[in-house]
Amino acid sequence: MSSPFVVAVDGPSGSGKSSTARGVAQRLGFAYLDTGAMYRAVTWALLQRGVDTGDASAVAEAAPAVRIVSGTDPGAPTIHADGTDVSVQIRGEDVTAHVSPVATVPAVRGLLVQLQRSVIAGCAADGIVVEGRDIGSTVAPDAPVKIYLVADPAARAARRAAETGATDTAGTAESLARRDRIDSTRAASPLTRADGSVEIDSTHLGLAEVVETIVGLVQEVR
Ligand code: DC
Repeated sequence: MSSPFVVAVDGPSGSGKSSTARGVAQRLGFAYLDTGAMYRAVTWALLQRGVDTGDASAVAEAAPAVRIVSGTDPGAPTIHADGTDVSVQIRGEDVTAHVSPVATVPAVRGLLVQLQRSVIAGCAADGIVVEGRDIGSTVAPDAPVKIYLVADPAARAARRAAETGATDTAGTAESLARRDRIDSTRAASPLTRADGSVEIDSTHLGLAEVVETIVGLVQEVR
């Protein structure tokens, strides 16, 4: 089996990564992998077990026992942790508040990067769109198309608040800024613009425009 064509989509929270990555996958008939959902699912399972997510050694010790299974259908993304479909639970406030510290733990990153590479290698479609923070830099550094999606902080907070139904946009902006800080300053694969990536600023672009720009880039190199 030849390896699938990988489109890496990285960027901070609220930059429009998920809708964009799913849209690109649907347009091209590619699979889709949401790596943020994997970090969230591990966090959910650790919280279920009563693990203190601020204690890196406790997290590193407990994480290997968590079984994560990611669906790759861009029309209906799902994720299971220990046999439970946690697609809804992982978007809750509790998981959102605890996921960044869990994602800083190198043992967790090691496990998930390995799992992400195996999902990519086993993908039955011609290609796969993978979204996260370290896809172009660490998970799939040879991806032929790498996108770094950004948007200004106010636009990101407004989008995230609309997604979650939150009315406190200032609180949403503060929580995004806190997660950005943790994600960008951690020692293990911080959020960073990968070599060879194309930066797209989605602040003033509609979803369809961003999707078409990326589809165009894929068609140029494919
Ligand atoms: O994209 P998201 O908000 O669902 O990501 C959840 C958290 O996981 C966020 O704190 C960043 C982290 N993450 C990461 O460190 N590496 C990835 N490849 C994807 C997400």
